[in-house]
Amino acid sequence: MDKEKVLVIDFGGQYNQLVARRVRECNVYCEIYSYKTPLDKIKEMNPMGIILTGGPNSVYVDGAPTAGKELFEIGVPILGLCYGAQLMNHVLGGEVKKAEAREYGKTRTLINKKSVLFENVGDSIDPRESYADVLSEKERNNKSFDEKDTLVTQVWMSHFDYISKMAEGFEAVAYTENCPVAAAENIEKKLFAIQFHPEVLHTLDGTTILYNFVRNICGCTGTWRMDTFVEGAVKSISEKVGNGKVLLALSGGVDSSVLAALLSKAIGKQLTCVFVDHGLLRKDEGDEVEKIFGEEGQFNLNFIRVNAAERYYKKLRGISEPEQKRKIIGEEFIRIFEEESQKIGKVDFLAQGTIYPDVVESGLGGESAVIKSHHNVGGLPDTVDFKDIIEPLRDLFKDEVRKVGLELGIPEKLVFRQPFPGPGLGVRIVGEVTADKVRIVQEADHIYREEIDKAVEEYKIIYRTEPEWKPDQYFAALTNMRSVGVMGDERTYDYAIALRAVNTIDFMTAEASGIPFNVLQTVMSRIINEVRGVNRVFYDLTSKPPGTIEME
Ligand code: XMP
Repeated sequence: MDKEKVLVIDFGGQYNQLVARRVRECNVYCEIYSYKTPLDKIKEMNPMGIILTGGPNSVYVDGAPTAGKELFEIGVPILGLCYGAQLMNHVLGGEVKKAEAREYGKTRTLINKKSVLFENVGDSIDPRESYADVLSEKERNNKSFDEKDTLVTQVWMSHFDYISKMAEGFEAVAYTENCPVAAAENIEKKLFAIQFHPEVLHTLDGTTILYNFVRNICGCTGTWRMDTFVEGAVKSISEKVGNGKVLLALSGGVDSSVLAALLSKAIGKQLTCVFVDHGLLRKDEGDEVEKIFGEEGQFNLNFIRVNAAERYYKKLRGISEPEQKRKIIGEEFIRIFEEESQKIGKVDFLAQGTIYPDVVESGLGGESAVIKSHHNVGGLPDTVDFKDIIEPLRDLFKDEVRKVGLELGIPEKLVFRQPFPGPGLGVRIVGEVTADKVRIVQEADHIYREEIDKAVEEYKIIYRTEPEWKPDQYFAALTNMRSVGVMGDERTYDYAIALRAVNTIDFMTAEASGIPFNVLQTVMSRIINEVRGVNRVFYDLTSKPPGTIEME
C-alpha cells in the first residue's frame, strides 16, 4: 500500500474524477470516497490531506450533503473546492448566500501571490496582460489585499452561492468582480477554500495550485509513479497467481491490452488470452491485434484468435433494434468465450480490465454514481470454471493505464487509441448489420481517420501545436438511408455515410468538432470515389446531449 495518500471526498459534482486525476498527475496517490464515509474510516486511512469536492447543492438547504465540524479538527490539511469551500465555511461558522447572478466560465481573478496556495502561479502570459493594478469598480469593492501582492490569473467558475462571510481565522487570498472570496485560507489550522475549479484546464494555473496543496502543504513527496506501479503490480500478481493459470478476454482495446502485457510480464505463459474477432472491428484491426499479441509478437503468452464474423452476421440477420443488436453481440461473445475456455480446461483466475472510473461509477467509490447504460462485450461468463478474479488495473485512471502501457512497450498507436465500443461497428451501422454494410463502414472510416490524422499532423508542423478542433473521438457510421444520386451518367441508389467527430472531456457530454471544411470535403470526395455503395456523406453536428456519441 502506498503510504502517501490524499482522500477526495465526493459531494456529487461533475468534475470529481478530474480532481483525483489532477492530484495523481502530481505523483500523489488519491482515492475518491462519498461524503457519507464515517469519520473513523477517514481517520483510519491515515490520509496526508483531504480535498472536498464541488457539488450541485446549497449548503444552507435542509438535507444538503454535509460534514461534521470534527472533520476539520483531525489535523491534516483540508482543501475545499466550490461546494466544498462553501461547506467548510458554513460548518465553521461563516455565511454562504445565493448571489444575484451565477458566475460561470473563464473568469479574471486577482490572487495574493504571498499565499502558499499560489506559489509559482503567475508566470504564464494570457490574462495577466490585463494589469493587476487596474481594477474595475466591482473588483475594487471586493479588494482584500495589497495591490503590490496582487497577480491576475484566469480561473474556471461555476457557482450561484458564494461565501459572504468567512469563518473565524480565515483570510481571503483571491477575489473576482462578483466574488469577494474566490479563495481563503486559515494557515494555522491548515484549511483552504477555493471557490473556483482548479481541476478544470481553463483554470490556467490549476495544476500548480493543486500541486502546492498536495506536495507543499500536505507534504507528499510524490511516490505515485507508473514505473514503480509496474514493479509492484508484477510482484503482487506473481505472488497471488503462483503456478496458477490465468484467462483473459482480450479485445484489443487499451485496458485489456495493457492488462495482457502486464500479466505477461508477471506470469508469462501461465496466461492465455482469448481474442474474439466478431467481424465488427475497424479495418485491419483483428490482424493488428494478432501482430502485437500473437505468436510473432513481443509478448510471452498464449494467444487464441477466434474468427467469428460469420457466426455474428448470421445471428444479427434481420435484427435492426439497437438494444437487441447489443444484446446479441454481448451474448454471443460470452458463448464463444465459454467454448474456448472449456477447451483450455480449468483455470485458476479470470483477469478483468476494470479501471478506477469503473469502480467509482459502479457506486463503490464516490458520490456521483453514473451508471453506465452500455456494457463491454466481455461481461462475466458464469459457466467458466475459475477460483478468483484478478483486476490489477483497478486503481488506475485511463491516462495512467496508458502510461503503464508505454512502460510495458505496447506500441503508441494502440496505447493512444480512441475509445471503441464493445459492440463495435454493430452500433455504427444503423439498422440491420450485413457483411456488405460492415465493408462499407470499415472503408469509409479508414479514409476518414487517415485524413483527420493527416490534417492534424500538417497543422502541428505549421503551428507547432495541436489544432483546437482535434477531435477526441471520430469515426464514420452508416446511416440506414439510401437515396438517389448521379455518378458519371448513371443514376445511383446508395447509402449515406455519417461522419462523427466530437470534443469532450469525459464522454458524458460532447460537442461536434469544428473540423475545417476543406478537410471534410477531401474526406467526402475520397469516400464517394473509393467506397462502392456510398453516394452521400453527412457531417453530424449534434452535441451530446441531446445526441449520443455513437449512432445507436
Ligand atoms: P455514447 O454513444 O453513449 O458513448 O454517447 C459514450 C462513449 O462510450 C462509448 N460507447 C461504448 N463503449 N461499449 C463500450 O465499451 C458500448 O456498448 C458503448 N457504447 C458507447 C462511445 O464510443 C463513447 O466513447
